[in-house]
Amino acid sequence: MRDMTRFGRRSAFGLAAALLMAGLAAPAAAQDAAGEVTWSKDIAPILQRSCQQCHRPDGGAPMSLITYEDTRPWARSIRQRTGLRDKQDAMPPWYIEKDIGIQDYKGDVSLSDEEVAKIADWVDNGAPRGNPADAPPPLEFPDASVWTIGEPDLIVSSPSIEIGASDPDWWGPIGDSAIEGLAEDRYVAAIEMKEINDVEPTGGRETVGSRWGIHHLVWNVVHPDEYTLEELEALRESDPDEYARRVGASVIEQGFWPVHEVGRNADYFDPKAGLLLRAGSNIIFSSAHLHSTGTHMKSRLDIGFKFHPRDYEPEYTNILLAYGTGDLDIRGGTANQKIESFRTLPFHAKLTIFEPHLHAAGTRMCLDAIYPDTGRMETLSCAGYNHSWVRAYSYAEDAAPVLPKGTVLRITGYFDTSPGNKNVADPRNWAGMGDRSIDNMLINLAQGVRLSDEQYAAELEQRRRALNLTPGQYVTGCPGCGAWSADAGQNQDQ
Ligand code: HEC
Repeated sequence: MRDMTRFGRRSAFGLAAALLMAGLAAPAAAQDAAGEVTWSKDIAPILQRSCQQCHRPDGGAPMSLITYEDTRPWARSIRQRTGLRDKQDAMPPWYIEKDIGIQDYKGDVSLSDEEVAKIADWVDNGAPRGNPADAPPPLEFPDASVWTIGEPDLIVSSPSIEIGASDPDWWGPIGDSAIEGLAEDRYVAAIEMKEINDVEPTGGRETVGSRWGIHHLVWNVVHPDEYTLEELEALRESDPDEYARRVGASVIEQGFWPVHEVGRNADYFDPKAGLLLRAGSNIIFSSAHLHSTGTHMKSRLDIGFKFHPRDYEPEYTNILLAYGTGDLDIRGGTANQKIESFRTLPFHAKLTIFEPHLHAAGTRMCLDAIYPDTGRMETLSCAGYNHSWVRAYSYAEDAAPVLPKGTVLRITGYFDTSPGNKNVADPRNWAGMGDRSIDNMLINLAQGVRLSDEQYAAELEQRRRALNLTPGQYVTGCPGCGAWSADAGQNQDQ
């Protein structure tokens, strides 16, 4: 559809040029009517798809972008924010770089180059409304909350917390919630975590953290068959390692639930690696980092669960594949500082989620893979970073990297402590690793699945079929896809 519009415009120009050449200048108004970018025809569909889930009354964003009247006063600001693409203040808050690495992600609401250009054209041309009859019917928002995973099958809320206007950063457990309304055990296909608070979306701090108070919240699900809440509490003293294993994420952990981060979006698990949610369990919110916003606030976390069908059985186990380094030395007042961290995969794996985690000074992270045997390196994903929006990028089904054992995963974090990074409270400060938002971190909170030799071979085969690859044909993130076994030869005919 987008292409047809572009084609339409080009042919209108072509017509104008032909008329000029024939000595018949086409009236300007006629040209505009054919090619003009209008709110009704061009901009409203973009806003509906990529903006209104937040930019509507009670949507959490500072202003509504539902009607033309809502949108018009923000035209210049919209042009500026969408033009930032993958840089810190970009809108929508989705920072994957479009010119490098894998491009297919689930829940991607980012704008195409054509859409960004269209918005710029529209604003430069006076942000006209156009013909109201061209506008798509308005979307309906029956509930305050819009979930990108679709209407959740179950929502569990954390206990409510209060944060003072200027409280120092705080870390600790915030209690537990019984899972209610779940009659039987179910496997979870996707989750979305949302901070629900009473902060006015406008105003607040100039630096990071004006909108949300929960910087992170680590949680896990514990069933009374394993530990009752009392037994778990006793473990804290008697066996701290087991306690940590049950309630807090370690570096590589099976069957663990993702961490909530400030401004976070949805997690889509590998379809073959649904996570089991047992009826009658409790959710333990074992480690929160709270960060004041400049106003006194009440807040909680809502976790929306989307289930697989009842008869679903997983083939794989989802794993948290977090790695990074605390060896950080970030100078004050300096843009474009680079720090790397490496991890060797101890097993074959499919990577399902890339989640850059930096802090206020962080502006970008790239993930590269260095393959065993060949030593070849390629970039899987690069994303800008804004510490007010910690995003998780779930690879689309046939784009998720399928990596052989021994692959070295490299992350490169980029830090900017110059005055150009408004998230940094005081650009003069040196900062190292630390828990506060003004300290630094460098972690890829990746998720994936471990694959046996047979499963690895089957995943390669499935990928070749899905993408219709010919022998030797190469795709990013799948070094084995191009290497064919003799019995896979029948694919050559496709
Ligand atoms: C996930 C929710 C979300 C989505 C999707 C989203 N926004 Fe925003 N937007 C926000 C929030 C929250 C803020 C205020 C905080 C900030 O600037 O990061 C904001 C700020 C803005 C601002 C700056 C307002 C000001 O005060 O100057 C503009 C302009 C904007 N958004 C436009 C858009 C457009 C256009 C889209 C779609 C192409 C979009 N946003 C998509 C949540 C969202």
